[in-house]
Amino acid sequence: MTAASLGAPGAWDAADPLRELRARFALPVNAQGAPLTYLCGHSLGLLPLAARALIDEELDDWAHLGVEGHEHARRPWIPYHENLTAGLAMLTGARASEVVAMNSLTVNLHLMLASFYRPQGARTRILIEAGAFSADRHAVASQIAWRGLDPQTALVELAPRPGEDTVCEEAIETYLQAHGEQVALVLWPGVQFRTGQVFDLARITRAAHALGCIAGFDLAHSIGNVPLSMHETGADFAVWCSYKYLNGGPGAIGGCFVHQRHLDAQPPTSHSGALPGARLAGWWGHEEPTRFLMEPQFRAAAGVAAWQLSNPPILAAAPLIASLAIFQEAGMGALREKSRALTAYLASLLRPFAPAVHIITPEEPQQRGCQLSLRIAGGAGHGKQVFEALGARGMVVDWRAPDVIRVAPVPLYNRFEDAGCFAQALTEVLKE
Ligand SMILES: Cc1ncc(COP(=O)(O)O)c(C=O)c1O
Repeated sequence: MTAASLGAPGAWDAADPLRELRARFALPVNAQGAPLTYLCGHSLGLLPLAARALIDEELDDWAHLGVEGHEHARRPWIPYHENLTAGLAMLTGARASEVVAMNSLTVNLHLMLASFYRPQGARTRILIEAGAFSADRHAVASQIAWRGLDPQTALVELAPRPGEDTVCEEAIETYLQAHGEQVALVLWPGVQFRTGQVFDLARITRAAHALGCIAGFDLAHSIGNVPLSMHETGADFAVWCSYKYLNGGPGAIGGCFVHQRHLDAQPPTSHSGALPGARLAGWWGHEEPTRFLMEPQFRAAAGVAAWQLSNPPILAAAPLIASLAIFQEAGMGALREKSRALTAYLASLLRPFAPAVHIITPEEPQQRGCQLSLRIAGGAGHGKQVFEALGARGMVVDWRAPDVIRVAPVPLYNRFEDAGCFAQALTEVLKE
C-alpha cells in the first residue's frame, strides 16, 4: 500500500465489518468534553461500557447478600475466576485447564519462576532481552539473587546487533547453541513493549527445549493483540496482565499459563513433583470441594488453577468479563485481520515522514501487532517535544524512554479515521 493509493479513512471505516464495536467502549474526552484520539490501548485499554453493570451487580450482591455472595451471588464469588477461563483460553490458544486469571503480572512471573527456575550445577543462567521491561528484569534478577546466585553472571541480556533495534530469533538460537547448557530458563516477551516486535514463540521454545532450557513468556503486549497458540508452541509457562489490549481496567486481574504436560505430571497432594521445581501454594489452589475443610494436607485443584494463592479480586475481575465477551463475539481472526489493515494504513501514512520519523517496529506484518513505535530524528529531547505537541492536539499516545513514541490503533475501538487524525497532527507538529 502506498500513501497515494490509500484512499480516504472514512471509506475504510465504512467497509470495516467490526466498526460497530467502537460503540461498546467509553471514548476519552478532554477537559472541555471534546473527543480525544485514543491510540494507547497498548498501555491501558478502554472501558467496555458493559463493565459498569457487571461491577454494579457485584456491589448489589455484596450489599444484599454479604458473605452469602460467595455462594449465592449471580456469579458466585468462590469460583469467580472461572468466568474468565474460556475467554483467556481462546485468546492464548490454550486448553481451559492451562490458563487461570489470578494476581497481577509480576506476581505471576515470580510464582512461575519459583516453579520453573531451578538452577543446578553449571545451569544457572536466565536469558532475557536487553532492554526488557523493568518489572521483568527486577523479577528475574531478584529470583537469581534470592537463590544465592549472582545476577551479574547468571542474568544474560541479549542485545540487538549494533545499529539495530530488534533482536531476531536466530540470535537467540545462536546464543543457546553456544551457551545453552548453562541456561536454566529463557524468558522472552511475545511482543516487545518498546518496539512492538512480535516473536515466534514456537521457534524460541524449540530452541530452548533443544538445549534443555525452560521457555517462559511475558504476554503483556501479546494477549488480545495477536493470535496466540500457547499449547501448540509447547512453552512451559506464560504470564500476562489484562489492562492493556484486554481492557480489564487499571490494576485488573492478571493471568497465567502452564503447559498441560506439567499439569499432568503434578502429584495432586504434593507441592513438589515432576515440574522442574516446587509450586508455591495457597488455599485457593486447593481443590474446591474440600477447600473449606481446612485440612493441613494440600490437594491441588485440577490444572493451573492449583497455582492460585488467594481468593480472586471480584471488582478487579468483573470488567474483564465484559471485555472477553466482546473478544469472543468478534473472534481473534477477524480482529487480527482488521488490525493488520489498520496498522498497515497508519504505517503507510507515516512512511512519507521519513527520515524525520523512523518507524522502528518491523515492517513485516507477522512481526508486528497493532503498535507502531516511532523515533523522531533530532534526539530524545526533540522526540519528547513532538510527543507533547501531539498530546496538545488531542492525540493520546505514549512516550517510552529513552526516545520512542508508541502509537497503537486497536481494532476493537479504533477507526482508520483515528490513523488519519494522527498523521494530520504529526504533519502540523513537525511543521512548527
Ligand atoms: C512487559 C511488561 N512486563 C511487566 C509489566 C508489569 O505489570 P504489573 O504491574 O501488572 O505487574 C508490564 C506493565 O505494563 C509490562 O508491560
